[in-house]
Amino acid sequence: MTEAFERVIIIILDSCGVGALPDAARYGDKGSNSIANTAEAVGGLNLPHLERLGLGDIVPIRGVPPASGPRASFGKMATLSLGKDSTVGHWEIMGLVTTRPFPTYPNGFPEEILEKFKRLTGLEVLGNKPASGTEIIKELGEKHCRTGNPILYTSADSVFQLAAHEEVIPIERLHQICQKAREILTAEHGVARVIARPFIGKPGNFTRTERRKDFSLPPPADTLLDYLKGEGVEVTSIGKVDDLFGHRGFTRTFHTSSNRHGMEVIHRTIKNQKRGLIFANLVDFDMLWGHRNDYVNFAKGLEDFDRRLPEFLSLLGGKDLFIITADHGCDPTTPSTDHSREYVPLLVFGPKLKSGVDLGTRESLGDLGATVSEAFGFSSFGCGESFWKLIESAKRARLKAYAPYSKFNVGAAVLTSSGKVFTGANVENASYGLTVCAERAAVFSAVSSGEKEMTTLAVVTDKSPPAKPCGACLQVLREFSPDCWIICANLDGEISKHKLGELLPEAFEL
Ligand code: THU
Repeated sequence: MTEAFERVIIIILDSCGVGALPDAARYGDKGSNSIANTAEAVGGLNLPHLERLGLGDIVPIRGVPPASGPRASFGKMATLSLGKDSTVGHWEIMGLVTTRPFPTYPNGFPEEILEKFKRLTGLEVLGNKPASGTEIIKELGEKHCRTGNPILYTSADSVFQLAAHEEVIPIERLHQICQKAREILTAEHGVARVIARPFIGKPGNFTRTERRKDFSLPPPADTLLDYLKGEGVEVTSIGKVDDLFGHRGFTRTFHTSSNRHGMEVIHRTIKNQKRGLIFANLVDFDMLWGHRNDYVNFAKGLEDFDRRLPEFLSLLGGKDLFIITADHGCDPTTPSTDHSREYVPLLVFGPKLKSGVDLGTRESLGDLGATVSEAFGFSSFGCGESFWKLIESAKRARLKAYAPYSKFNVGAAVLTSSGKVFTGANVENASYGLTVCAERAAVFSAVSSGEKEMTTLAVVTDKSPPAKPCGACLQVLREFSPDCWIICANLDGEISKHKLGELLPEAFEL
């Protein structure tokens, strides 16, 4: 989509998965489906705006039927990384696959870590076990207030969490302590996050404050964010996003205290920042509701987001790309209170983008990053494959068109069932009738290389709406793949997608 977009907005609905990944059983997450199971549990969700975008076209969701003509393109994404937490998810979205899982500590942290911690901070710890954050302050809060020792706890995730009363260990001091812990927790003990968990109140009535702070492991290599920033693109983080990247790759950051606050900031930023990337995370789905199995509020949170969605959409222009997705699941309806290994939803909307394109099931969250990279006019970045890769190939092929008579340049690319891409351009002749179209050139190239089955053909012209293949090309394509998808695109980023049978309902048959 070279230079088609000036601004990309990504909203991560943290934990809002749409169904178990094929390997979910290995993570204890068989049957998880954060959004759809929540919808079932509350007797149906009321999400009219997400519904119009195409949320119900991704998976069946009670109360959210498929849209007739979704406004967004839609699909779902799997993850290639070994893990199911926010860090891994956000990193992969930005092009980095995590193949070594972050360490977890179901039996607490080993003695060597506690010793180092004591040496650097002068503090013993209480707890040192997996626990719920609210339960552990109930259990050990009083002892903490008496001894001044912080409460260390973990979860099924790779986290080293330190809870402390704000009047016992002032917040700045707690941050210094967490920073020390971060320095200890490297290499084989490189936990994804060290988290400061301050609380206030009296025994029996302790409550956590919003001044939680994450100290993440910085990404082990450059992400798309580093790349974009390096290229002079403005990169804004809203919510906890910058924490997940060790604060690397951003030009501006806004921390938020709740989904509501996050949505305020998203709204304000869409209004004020006209170019670059806006990358936002709404964490309440995860922190407040997913982990606490509170599906009632999980549902309400989705409905709240839905209510604000029209305000965001109304601020978008032709050079904007607006994407809603998630980083992993955390099904609040299953007995587990941990994250769940799920597909994440994908809704891609732009006022100038053809709507309703089925983006299918993407193999990697990185496909999103690769697409964003292309949206800004850079080549694909990272582990993913852009949604528009085939269009890009067709666009490149178009540069080779030989059309001195019509001056109408056409490029085509076919994806075969073996995953290979073949391209073609139109080649004209002074004897006009000898001209060969781009699509046929691409199909003949594929067949000449031994490929007989085409999955998708993309054709690019400089015409609005994008031109469709001629009947002759459709007939040729049909010879090999009557069920083929056809994507028609132009240089301005307009896209339409069709089934061959829709464009050639009455083909010639012998
Ligand atoms: N053309 C194609 O490449 N594909 C089609 O499906 C229709 C037309 C080319 C042929 C010619 O070079 C130019 O467009 C004008 O007809």
